[in-house]
Amino acid sequence: SSPSEPIRLEDRIRDIQDFPQKGVLFKDITPLLQDAAAFRAAMDRMAAHYAGAGIEVVVGVESRGFIFGAPLAYLLNCGFVPVRKFGKLPSETVSVEYALEYGTNIVEVHKDAIKPGQRVLIVDDLLATGGTVSAAMELVEKLGGHIAGIAFLVELSFLKGREHLKGHDVFALIKY
Ligand code: PRP
Ligand code: MG
Repeated sequence: SSPSEPIRLEDRIRDIQDFPQKGVLFKDITPLLQDAAAFRAAMDRMAAHYAGAGIEVVVGVESRGFIFGAPLAYLLNCGFVPVRKFGKLPSETVSVEYALEYGTNIVEVHKDAIKPGQRVLIVDDLLATGGTVSAAMELVEKLGGHIAGIAFLVELSFLKGREHLKGHDVFALIKY
């Protein structure tokens, strides 16, 4: 693209057939990440959306949510709080168990990571069924945080994950 045209982020998402299993079309974000201009544009657009929203804390969901959550916290001049998979956080935690396609998973956050009433932005790379982000929301709510926004790079609209996020401000840079 010429320097004057805005970068089309969807051109930097690669489709991988049958990954991680047959019948699944995987949206691979690594081409976007390795393209400096595209990664910068994605972060700048996300940050612009929340300018003036009074976000105080950015929560990123392990693993891929960290890739976008940390730079977003930096750009919004906020602290960053990791929601981690079970057993990784060293201090006192609250935890939530959630359903995966096969089995369950547990995510945790440090008890002192969010203060009651703080305005929290939850970030992940992708919204599919919404199970992962719902677990992160539950953790934030357990600590009394106010969910001021939920941001994704990619939303797979046909999976209707948004239906689990009713009443919240949900933003995605790319939708399929
Ligand atoms: C992927 C993706 C989202 C989640 C979306 O994470 O990064 O977090 O799935 O799916 P859902 O809306 O149906 O919950 P994954 O659990 O594969 O782990 P990773 O981030 O560590 O790669
Ligand atoms: Mg993930």
